[in-house]
Amino acid sequence: MRVLLAILLSLKLCATEKVEMLPLDVISYETFIQGDPAMVAQLKKALQEKGIVGIRGVPGYREKVMKFIETAREFSALPEKVKEQYAPSRGFGVLPLGYEKGTEQFKLPNGEWVADDLKATYYALVPDTNQNRWPNEVNLKTPFMELGKLMSEMGTAVMEKIGLLGPQHGISLRGVPRLGRMLYYSKCTESHNDNPYWCGSHFDHGLFTALLPAVYFEEGRQVAEPEEAGLFIKISSDGQFQKIVADDPDLLLFQVGEFAQLVTNDAIRATEHRVHKASGSVERYTMAMFFDPPMDLVVHSNSELAKDVRYGQVAGTACTAQHWYDESYNRYLVK
Ligand SMILES: [Fe+2]
Repeated sequence: MRVLLAILLSLKLCATEKVEMLPLDVISYETFIQGDPAMVAQLKKALQEKGIVGIRGVPGYREKVMKFIETAREFSALPEKVKEQYAPSRGFGVLPLGYEKGTEQFKLPNGEWVADDLKATYYALVPDTNQNRWPNEVNLKTPFMELGKLMSEMGTAVMEKIGLLGPQHGISLRGVPRLGRMLYYSKCTESHNDNPYWCGSHFDHGLFTALLPAVYFEEGRQVAEPEEAGLFIKISSDGQFQKIVADDPDLLLFQVGEFAQLVTNDAIRATEHRVHKASGSVERYTMAMFFDPPMDLVVHSNSELAKDVRYGQVAGTACTAQHWYDESYNRYLVK
């Protein structure tokens, strides 16, 4: 009886309240590369109003995604002890390159901070550098870099099109590596029932994020995204989280980070998002690519975010990207 109750409680907590959908704005790759003003307007509108946009049909993308997911599964299936050999060193100003699990915490709607204990990550810089750590057991490097390079090129092109890079804000990412993040969310069990999310509500703290629609597996077989699970976005501070329907391996998604909001003085706002768990024994894989500014970049922001303690709480004062990043990592790391 106790076991049955525990299972029922787990299923209840893994599932979510009624799911509201948010239609995704999608631009075809062909339309994107033509670059006409109507497309740029559509791109800006989607990012300003919803904080997310999709580009469909990037040549070679789907094959790279499939190869990457296959390899991410091989790596994730290794014993925890083997994977932990590739744990990064953490600290102020140090990038967490390598494998880690359950190291981030997020605030639940009731104000309680909980660790994302089912989320595992592999971070690596793109392009490859000798700072990256790669496993010996599985060739994760090749598919990570091939997909990462394409995501990096597309993200840079989108940021240029909307004016986030270039003369308007004086930001160039030439010579600045991107940070790639393989994500694996393991299945929900009764021992993980204090957190209904695979990833709690947050804003990415960098400039911009590219991500692929997640791929799901159950008992080793690929399955469609369960209705209750996936990426959820809140488009206004008093609104509900809504699910982004993007169960299509040809889509490449883009979200706005907080540093873009700081730089543009709120002309474009960071995307608040979280990942809802699937009930049962469903696992989730994806990849995110973070676009960071040069760490010595100084902003004098009048954004609402300048009131944040990470910034210094005084609008118009100087804040370096390095300071913002260090304070952001500090907030979300499990102590
Ligand atoms: Fe995120």
